[in-house]
Amino acid sequence: MGRPRWWPWAVWVIVLVPGPLVVAALVSDFVLGTRWLGSNPVKEGELLLGQWTMKYLVAALAITPVRRIMGWNWLQKYRRTFGLAAFFYGLTHFLWYALVDIQLDGAQLADDLTKRTYIVVGFATLVVMLPLALTSTRAAIARLRHRWVTLHRLVYVVPVLGIVHWWMSVKADVGPPAFYSAVFALLLGWRWWHARRETSGHATTPPTSPSA
Ligand code: HEM
Repeated sequence: MGRPRWWPWAVWVIVLVPGPLVVAALVSDFVLGTRWLGSNPVKEGELLLGQWTMKYLVAALAITPVRRIMGWNWLQKYRRTFGLAAFFYGLTHFLWYALVDIQLDGAQLADDLTKRTYIVVGFATLVVMLPLALTSTRAAIARLRHRWVTLHRLVYVVPVLGIVHWWMSVKADVGPPAFYSAVFALLLGWRWWHARRETSGHATTPPTSPSA
């Protein structure tokens, strides 16, 4: 099936709208006294940005299985878009924490990094995402070649760390982290199954780019 005409627009809406909406809701809640983000807008905005980071991670990791199963090769080029969206939302989630939540309080940051393990795991997740985002350009793919493929295997570590961070931070409702754990298990499980199938000579579709 060819790419639907509306798809590129849909991708830009999906990627560009949620973040600014969360920031606009926070500004509106503080300046206009609205309650878009409920009674604790700082915390709610932080949680929303963390959740959107996970959504884009799911989208980025789902592209290859969906492409192969459905034969939608046109989807492949959006994998990088969703991967970069995950990184930028993760970065915004961190900046929200640093600037809005703890308001650049160095002592609080040091305290969090020594006493709250989920914050350390969050940091580790973002640190692992950084080299992936920095090497997502065509030039980097061409320059690093096989090392790019090896480096980008880190993409499987990101959801694992992100999910651990979520489970460690969750207070009451374990439904969402349980749901995302199942989705990531399915996506990573499919890759493992597919890689085994390829090595035993059952592959049908050739990959279109490194680590596809
Ligand atoms: C420097 C990095 C990070 C810091 C400092 C950080 C900090 C936080 C904080 C303070 C919370 C709120 C916990 C609470 O009070 O309930 C949170 C929740 C969360 N974070 Fe992070 N985080 C970081 C990176 C990440 C990354 C990279 C991801 C995704 C891959 C992520 C995903 C989440 C999720 C899904 C939640 C929970 C949302 C919910 O409960 O609805 N975080 N994080």
